[in-house]
Amino acid sequence: MKELSGKTKVYGLIGKPVEQSMSPAMHNAAFKDLGIDACYVCFEIENNNVKKALDGIVALDIKGVNVTSPYKQKVIKYLDKIDPVAKKIGAVNTIVNVKGKLIGYNTDWLGLVYSLEKHMSLSKKKIVILGAGGSARGIVYGLKKKGAEIIILNRSVSKARKLAKEFNVEYGGLEELNNLSGDILINSTRVGMYPCLNVSIATKKQIQNFSIVFDLVYNPIETKFLKLAKEAGCKTIDGLNMLVYQGLVAFELWTGKKPNFNLMYKKAKDKL
Ligand SMILES: NC(=O)c1ccc[n+]([C@@H]2O[C@H](COP(=O)([O-])OP(=O)(O)OC[C@H]3O[C@@H](n4cnc5c(N)ncnc54)[C@H](OP(=O)(O)O)[C@@H]3O)[C@@H](O)[C@H]2O)c1
Repeated sequence: MKELSGKTKVYGLIGKPVEQSMSPAMHNAAFKDLGIDACYVCFEIENNNVKKALDGIVALDIKGVNVTSPYKQKVIKYLDKIDPVAKKIGAVNTIVNVKGKLIGYNTDWLGLVYSLEKHMSLSKKKIVILGAGGSARGIVYGLKKKGAEIIILNRSVSKARKLAKEFNVEYGGLEELNNLSGDILINSTRVGMYPCLNVSIATKKQIQNFSIVFDLVYNPIETKFLKLAKEAGCKTIDGLNMLVYQGLVAFELWTGKKPNFNLMYKKAKDKL
């Protein structure tokens, strides 16, 4: 971040809670690196103030915001326009303020796709996704778009079924992992997230049937699930990759400039 001036443009994050967010560290580093006179700050918003917050973005000419839990669905009804992909996914994590009109996008799915495509092409790959919550929706959309064969396994099978039917993919309960193998195994559940560090959504025996193992959980960076995957000889990818890529795409939507991934990753990791 440059020294603030009368011309400094403001970007930010809305959600609740936001104080642990790594987004200010990575975006402010990218602004500084690219010599952009802008800053990124966090706004903790109460549930009944979401509309007022969006009106405030326009009134204060805040140029863009990220949206985090629990408002990724709620903001949709207050936007002037929504990108068709974000509409299909049903969640917005990035808003661009174009001359007072708020346009919603979803960059989470690209975060996952870019993280995986660094390691292998996704076309025709067999991918098992554990979890059927908010983040799984974007993942299923992105992987299906890339031509992967997807199976969703979830604790509540009814939720897996609902998501699977919508995207025309296979589904089942978590226990079905015992009988499955594939190219990529993804944890999109909350299991293993701080402070419950010593738990994994899958056993080493189940994990060892996959080549690449990806955990959306990024706090801690190396979850128990990823530790077991390493022990089983799988290639592992941590959730910070996805977080940084979704931020990188949001940054491009706001500024038209491509930030440095490694710099943003390092700043986010330092913050953790
Ligand atoms: N790396 C990134 O950029 C990124 C982006 C988005 C999210 N995330 C992370 O992804 C995780 C999920 O987020 P979300 O928004 O999808 O959450 P969510 O909508 O609340 O969904 C939570 C999922 O976790 C499952 N689950 C929770 N506790 C479980 C348990 N004890 N055993 C088995 N399954 C359990 C739920 O299963 P049921 O349906 O049975 O309840 C559901 O499928 C979070 O840790 C979040 O921080 C990371």
